[in-house]
Amino acid sequence: MKGFASDNYAGVHPEVIAAIAEANVDHAVAYGEDPWTARAEELLRDHFGPAARSWLVFNGTGANVLAFRALCRPWQAVICAETAHVNVDEGGAPEAIGGTKLLTVPTPDGKLTPGTVDTHLLRVGDEHAVQPRVVSVTQSTELGTRYEPGELRELADHAHAHGLLLHVDGSRLANAAAGLAVSLAATTTDVGVDAVSFGGTKNGLLGGEALVLLDDAVGEGTTYLRKQTLQLASKGRFLGAQFVALLEGDLWRTSAAHANAMAARLAVAVERIPGVTVTQRVQANAVFALLPPGVAERLQRDVRFYTWDESTGEVRWMCSWDTTEDEVDAFADRIAQACGAAVAG
Ligand SMILES: Cc1ncc(COP(=O)(O)O)c(C=O)c1O
Repeated sequence: MKGFASDNYAGVHPEVIAAIAEANVDHAVAYGEDPWTARAEELLRDHFGPAARSWLVFNGTGANVLAFRALCRPWQAVICAETAHVNVDEGGAPEAIGGTKLLTVPTPDGKLTPGTVDTHLLRVGDEHAVQPRVVSVTQSTELGTRYEPGELRELADHAHAHGLLLHVDGSRLANAAAGLAVSLAATTTDVGVDAVSFGGTKNGLLGGEALVLLDDAVGEGTTYLRKQTLQLASKGRFLGAQFVALLEGDLWRTSAAHANAMAARLAVAVERIPGVTVTQRVQANAVFALLPPGVAERLQRDVRFYTWDESTGEVRWMCSWDTTEDEVDAFADRIAQACGAAVAG
């Protein structure tokens, strides 16, 4: 059985493999001066609007660090949720490589609000305090929830009113947009977002993300910063080709919508099992749950998934573009059996 550990455990979508193979002919100019990269940048403008400027990079951590380097000066900081990937899962790269302090906010659901942002605005103008410059939200969040476009609009307006910028870690932006049944721009450009780390890897690419800047006034030197941040691919055509496969048609949306549907199916199935509590709203491709004592460990002998919070035992189940209905149903059956055995003692 496939696991439910991470959408990164899934392989590469066959259409992406085909696009890489098709690009693997002759020679092409290196470092992104190739027709595939040009087409990918054009498609990113189609999806995010004509003002979108993009830089293809290898991975999501790189996109986030590059974003912070592009948006912040050395005395400036990024406000984010405590649970943000940039805070807990990037090995300190924003601080160590980006030189950016993170100002974190506790949240019940991974989502910032204007009020929580305010807790870090009290010392604006105080030369002894780091100065907030960016509000970074994750869409969809690390807890499988998502922002409504209106919520992002409020955050963007609030940030701008205080001289801050709004960055979206969109490693799973496609899952949010697919779930909301809107365009990529509707949850970014149209609501005042300034910068997006747009994810491809979790949505079927071999490896590729893009930093997309939506605000003309920011990002001086980003081209040089990408190289300095070790994110300029020499054989850039293969990054470009992957994004063309993802964005030229509907692949980005169908793959993400499928992963979301599998998570929704799993949530419906496990909610019926006595002893299982789904702990977060299932609004993307993740299900978070509490299980009776011992059940997670029993299941983890055969199926890979993470215990998200060791202190509470909360688990995370992720679905991906290649998760099937049969796999979800079989996993839900296993959970039911394990819970039944736990109850029977
Ligand atoms: C919210 C979020 N941002 C960014 C990333 C990108 O990480 P990576 O550097 O592993 O591509 C991930 C991957 O797990 C993520 O979940």
